[in-house]
Amino acid sequence: MLRRGGVGLALLLLIGLISIALSAQTLAYTRKPDAKNGKTIYEGGCIACHGADGKGADEKLTEFKRPDTWPDFTRCDQTTPEPDSAWKAVVVNGGPYLGFSTIMPRFRDLLSNDQIDDVVAYLRTFCSSSHWPHGELNLPRAIVTEKAFPEKEVVWSTSVNASGAPGFETHVIHEQSFGSKGQLEVDVPWQFQNQDHSWDNHIGDITLGWKQVLYSNLQRGSILALQGGILPPTGSTKLGGAGTTTFEPFAAFDQLFRSNTWVQFQMGADLPHDTKKSPQSLFWYTALGQTIAEDHRLGRQWSPMVEFLAARDLEDGAKTDWDVMPEMQVTASRRQHIRVNVGVRTPITDTAGRSPQVYFYVLWDWAEGHFWNGW
Ligand code: HEC
Repeated sequence: MLRRGGVGLALLLLIGLISIALSAQTLAYTRKPDAKNGKTIYEGGCIACHGADGKGADEKLTEFKRPDTWPDFTRCDQTTPEPDSAWKAVVVNGGPYLGFSTIMPRFRDLLSNDQIDDVVAYLRTFCSSSHWPHGELNLPRAIVTEKAFPEKEVVWSTSVNASGAPGFETHVIHEQSFGSKGQLEVDVPWQFQNQDHSWDNHIGDITLGWKQVLYSNLQRGSILALQGGILPPTGSTKLGGAGTTTFEPFAAFDQLFRSNTWVQFQMGADLPHDTKKSPQSLFWYTALGQTIAEDHRLGRQWSPMVEFLAARDLEDGAKTDWDVMPEMQVTASRRQHIRVNVGVRTPITDTAGRSPQVYFYVLWDWAEGHFWNGW
């Protein structure tokens, strides 16, 4: 009864999500910012430090020493991952608001909200390439569902069995974007499990993956990426390692709606080379969430979300395992480059031998500065 109820509920939610996705609205500002007006404001208030070219005024003429995080607005690789709200927060409230230098003044008493939107729109024109996916589409990372946006981050993620055999699994994940659309991923799992009253610990199957963005559109709020992964059999088969090299292709599609509601889909397969050692399987993950930012959308971000996780072996008579995981991600540092997330994953079908698990991660967006800076 519970099983069928669970599947029914999850299916209903999926249908709901797909219908929202199909009716995707265009991201709209209440007022379209005016970059031409922004240029005038820039020439009046910003050019003395940031320079006519957006790289920075002649250092002999500026009186300050540039911090390491000094922005060169023409560098698309540095500017496009930033959402407008991060720039707006600094222009409104000054550098220290996001843990940057006090030399960057605050403009909230000098410029109106609209003028600040205009000058931010003008800053965007310094990056002249349209190949780069925009930082607005860099949605909060769910615990399991992988997203489409290419990242520069390190994630330390641990899960703990809440019942049954005691056990931990920790993943250290390194993601590094290359160019405008590529990203390398290395995921090293470490397992620590109590089996028959003795603790076993072993490295798991390591993932090496390459992700490529195929499509991104800020107006539509959509981004699509494909990833190809290979998992050499580095893990212990006793602790769930495949015992054979596994190929893992997947597609990730993320949709952002007005009002900062979003949904992320990831669909893929695990294809072991030797299917006698480990069966082929399919997975279908969905994360649905909402980001709420304090302080007129410029401050700390809270992202409550729920993941629906389905996996099925490609064998006759195999059942689909469904799990749900409510979770909460929050930005921990003032710069918002350190985020934490906590969730509880509960099996809703085929529950025998599958324990609920508590998950926790710490994420460091290292392109935004050292771990200890910006608090
Ligand atoms: C007195 C010099 C000065 C003036 C005037 C100034 N800035 Fe800045 N700005 C800085 C400095 C210095 C930084 C770098 C802070 C850091 O990285 O620690 C900065 C950083 C920024 C950033 C942050 C970029 C990032 O990496 O997130 C933005 C956006 C910005 N300025 C926009 C503006 C705008 C728009 C104006 C005009 C309305 C302006 N600045 C005027 C000195 C100035």
